[in-house]
Amino acid sequence: MGEEKLAGPALVCYNKTMDNDKRFVTGLDVGTENVRAVVATVTKEGAVAIVGYNEGKSAGMRKGVPANLTGPASSIDKMLGEAERMGGIEVRSAYVSINGSQILSTRTEGMIAVGTVEHEIDDKDLDRVEDVAVTGRIPANRDVLDVVPLEYALDGQGGIKDPIGMSGARLEIRANVISALTPNCENLKKTTMAADVEAKRLIPTAVAAARAVLTERQKENGVAVIDMGAATTSIAVYEEGDLQYVGVVPAGSNNITNDLAIVLAISPDMAEEIKTRFVTGGFGSDKNPLIRIGKEGKAERTFERKEVEEVVKARLDEIFSEVRKKLKTAKYDQRLPEGIILTGGGAKMRDIEVFAKETLEAAVKIGVPQSLGGVSEAVEKPEYSVAVGLALLAADQINLDMPSTTKKSKKPIKTLKAPSFFKKLFSKF
Ligand SMILES: Nc1ncnc2c1ncn2[C@@H]1O[C@H](COP(=O)(O)OP(=O)(O)OP(=O)(O)O)[C@@H](O)[C@H]1O
Ligand SMILES: [Mg+2]
Repeated sequence: MGEEKLAGPALVCYNKTMDNDKRFVTGLDVGTENVRAVVATVTKEGAVAIVGYNEGKSAGMRKGVPANLTGPASSIDKMLGEAERMGGIEVRSAYVSINGSQILSTRTEGMIAVGTVEHEIDDKDLDRVEDVAVTGRIPANRDVLDVVPLEYALDGQGGIKDPIGMSGARLEIRANVISALTPNCENLKKTTMAADVEAKRLIPTAVAAARAVLTERQKENGVAVIDMGAATTSIAVYEEGDLQYVGVVPAGSNNITNDLAIVLAISPDMAEEIKTRFVTGGFGSDKNPLIRIGKEGKAERTFERKEVEEVVKARLDEIFSEVRKKLKTAKYDQRLPEGIILTGGGAKMRDIEVFAKETLEAAVKIGVPQSLGGVSEAVEKPEYSVAVGLALLAADQINLDMPSTTKKSKKPIKTLKAPSFFKKLFSKF
């Protein structure tokens, strides 16, 4: 498979393809600590293979949202630039992650008259009823990222998943609308655009991660994905195959590092080393009472494991109880037969699933992107779930748009409700 060649940062791709039978798609995860890109090819037959990836340090992001435009733009530019120099090709557009506690999941309903009883429901009717469910329900300072139809009813008869082709005079919808603050969406698009990458869609991080780490069966039965990043912990809940809830806790794994640095009066680098090398989420399971850190040429430092564990546990407790509160608000705290899939860089803490299982009182597993062929082994890591998921969602859309595919009424990703906004934004560049 050529992994040897791809051992270092390796991203090749986009637009300048020599193979007309393949389309290229890019997932761009703009995190608070790291930016990552994953590129995949989609064949005419719909087969997806990951062909490139890269990661780099992020700048100018605060708790998942851009704090300025130049910082994230230059980190994206640098990360893609390195890759482009290696591959000799360019990334011009991407599915981009959006994050932050501003992301909201709102339940709405809508109803329209569609004509006579003989009328067969079509895509236009679905768009119209979705518009009714959204208009006036989502504040004007929010962009709609996705409208997830949960259930339709025709002439009062509910429980319909796909009403296309069915007859009826009155169509109702129950939907989950995912929205984000317009200024944050604008700034994210501006910052990627400043790096010459058009943001085709903005997808909440946990939703992107879910695409990479969940199976259809898990989504059907009921499951939650928790993406623990540096400064945020995002949640996405699925049931009956649909996205039921999205929420973001504004704290992540960097909070643990910061706490350790303050309490132990050490540098953030040393705190990070302690966290990533010595801490285990199965508190008390490592019986060695001391943690020793020896830097070349410097005296060895020794820390009491008990003290370190207390600091880490307190912060993890706080983060996971916030997660639990959100699951409770969404009424999913005791209702996840397939349990919880934990992913993101924060999920790399040794035995963190042991801790999460106790606090969340659910089965917890670590989620990594599933095998996809190509160089996918290199991205089978929790921190790549979001970028891989974004590339897969972009590939799904290409497959749906293919003329050869049979007509599907369900769009996996709803087009942003404000196309004029795109025009406005891109006319500025
Ligand atoms: N082995 C490890 N053990 C514990 N934590 C780790 C480990 N490896 C990485 N991390 C932590 O993962 C975090 C980075 O994760 P990730 O790259 O997913 O964040 P991000 O996407 O940049 O942030 P966010 O999603 O919050 O915007 C850092 O806090 C880092 O310390
Ligand atoms: Mg992230």
